[in-house]
Amino acid sequence: MVVLADLGFSEGMIYEVIVCTYNKDGSSNAAPMGVVMRGSEYIVLTIYNSSSTLRNMQVCRSATLNFTDNLDFFFQAAFKDAVLPMDWFEKSCIVNAPQLKLADATIALSLEDCTVFDVQKTRVTGKIQHIAALNVYPKGYCRAKAAVLEAIIHATRVKALIGNEKEQNYLVKLLVLIQNCYEIVNRCAPNSCYAELMSDLQKKIDMWSHFKHESLR
Ligand SMILES: Cc1cc2nc3c(=O)[nH]c(=O)nc-3n(C[C@H](O)[C@H](O)[C@H](O)COP(=O)(O)O)c2cc1C
Repeated sequence: MVVLADLGFSEGMIYEVIVCTYNKDGSSNAAPMGVVMRGSEYIVLTIYNSSSTLRNMQVCRSATLNFTDNLDFFFQAAFKDAVLPMDWFEKSCIVNAPQLKLADATIALSLEDCTVFDVQKTRVTGKIQHIAALNVYPKGYCRAKAAVLEAIIHATRVKALIGNEKEQNYLVKLLVLIQNCYEIVNRCAPNSCYAELMSDLQKKIDMWSHFKHESLR
């Protein structure tokens, strides 16, 4: 059987995956989240209390963690401006959750514990039921990939905080960090799918800023 170490997991490091769960209406949900291993059998997630993933995991008591380096999944699942394509998903044979058909590896997880951290976040511990992994070729490392992922994470915070007057200094910091990612992408991978994702991200941020200014009028 595949074990966490085979997927490159080490204690104390955060790995970015796509968490898939079932919504209340039975449709499939996906969201990027950071996960940490706890021993060889458990995974810990820290999830915003407002997220559908947390609610879904509490109801269905399970989820799948899907490994992919296709950033389109991260982009679409983070913002969900359109309904997620249902052909992304198939039913897990192991737990009551969907999984990504195109994942390089999938961990089936059952909910073990939920501990509320504070008003914002809950720590969720899941027990690993099964790990499946493909044998895939190694991929060349291009810095643009990490820069885009970083920018998407910052942008999820921008989206959440853009209307919050108390967080304007933090927002400015986030926008500078995104600009830095933009420069890395344009240096390391101009005219690539990564440059395209950065441009889509910039359009989203411009749209959120526009709505904010409209609502202040
Ligand atoms: C790479 C990446 C990692 C993220 N990690 C987390 C996380 O650990 N916990 C969390 O609550 N949100 C995290 N987010 C933000 C959520 O993915 C985002 O808020 C999403 O819209 C939540 O979707 P949901 O409401 O369907 O659960 C992350 C976003 C990205 C792009």
